Amino acid sequence: MARIFLTGATGYVGGDVLYRLQQSTLVNLHLSCLVRDPHKAQNLSEIYPNVELVQGGLDDSDLLEEQAGKADVVLNLAATGHAGAASAIAKGLQQRETPGHWIQIGGASLFAAAEIAQNRYGQPSQEIHDDVADTDKIIRTIQSNPKRVVENNLISQPAHVRTALLVIPLIYGTGRGPVNQRSIQAPEIARSTLHLGHGFRLGAGQNAWSNIHIHDLSDQVLALAEAAINQRKGLWNENGIYCLENGNMPFGKLCNLIAAEAYSQGLITGTGIKEEIDAEKANSMSGHAAVLWGTNAVINSSRSHAQLGWSPTAPDLSSEIATIVKSEAASKKGIT
Ligand SMILES: NC(=O)c1ccc[n+]([C@@H]2O[C@H](COP(=O)([O-])OP(=O)(O)OC[C@H]3O[C@@H](n4cnc5c(N)ncnc54)[C@H](OP(=O)(O)O)[C@@H]3O)[C@@H](O)[C@H]2O)c1
Repeated sequence: MARIFLTGATGYVGGDVLYRLQQSTLVNLHLSCLVRDPHKAQNLSEIYPNVELVQGGLDDSDLLEEQAGKADVVLNLAATGHAGAASAIAKGLQQRETPGHWIQIGGASLFAAAEIAQNRYGQPSQEIHDDVADTDKIIRTIQSNPKRVVENNLISQPAHVRTALLVIPLIYGTGRGPVNQRSIQAPEIARSTLHLGHGFRLGAGQNAWSNIHIHDLSDQVLALAEAAINQRKGLWNENGIYCLENGNMPFGKLCNLIAAEAYSQGLITGTGIKEEIDAEKANSMSGHAAVLWGTNAVINSSRSHAQLGWSPTAPDLSSEIATIVKSEAASKKGIT
């Protein structure tokens, strides 16, 4: 029986991946999930009685090491930057007699280090990071940034720890997980637009990120998990950088679409961008917003298409704007 150990099951990404795993045709699967909150654990066990719940947190290194050591596949989807958890997972997998797989969530802000260092937000960039053509460059980008501790740990694993790094851009769409179903970047722009009462953008708004629907993301993670269980070779380590995307959009356009939609839903009084905010104001409106709304991270998902036979089937970002705005308006009114 193949064993998958998943972290982040109560979160947006991990919850949706858990849902997708449960819907899959994978048979003979033992699935265990790390959950730190007993109330959420109770919720999860009611929905998924067959899933083993492991009570604990990412700081419980011994527990993570033990679980990783038993797992054929670790899906570490709880956090992009928890160094201790990454170390414990690596240690556990290294001790296995047969190769184990470590599929790690990472963020596309990896590509924004120079802009962040220069305090440059809202500006355009021509750079596109392709996960096949630019693998070496992406690995060098990770190696040259000591702050990316988790990614650096992952890319330095020995060959018998088979690794895959998911470089994730803006995610949109309603998650299907048991607890958090809300993403961050676009919903926070919608929430802030409603709060201000008018459309805004950060600086010139010419910067762009790629994006992916949460359901398309989960399909790719499932395809990777299946490949791992089937012991497919050539998909891991130096061939294991996966940029996940289905298009990209400049943030000025996204802010504009959100403002237009909020106007057409009667939630604000004017359409269009009425205010250009700076990085400081962005950060006061939403956590890390200067980075999340003001930098560039355009990526190409060549590897999943070529190696996993993946192609997106979910709606694109523009088609989801109405739902995002409606949902933020409902939570503003306290309707869930
Ligand atoms: N959403 C996006 O658009 C996006 C895009 C790229 C990258 N990311 C990154 O991907 C990661 C997951 O994102 P998300 O949107 O799924 O976040 P989320 O909805 O906040 O979920 C985080 C999950 O990880 C768990 N978790 C966090 N810290 C933990 C700890 N110390 N011990 C045990 N469990 C812990 C949470 O458990 P609790 O329920 O107990 O809190 C929850 O299950 C984050 O690092 C995020 O920054 C997100």
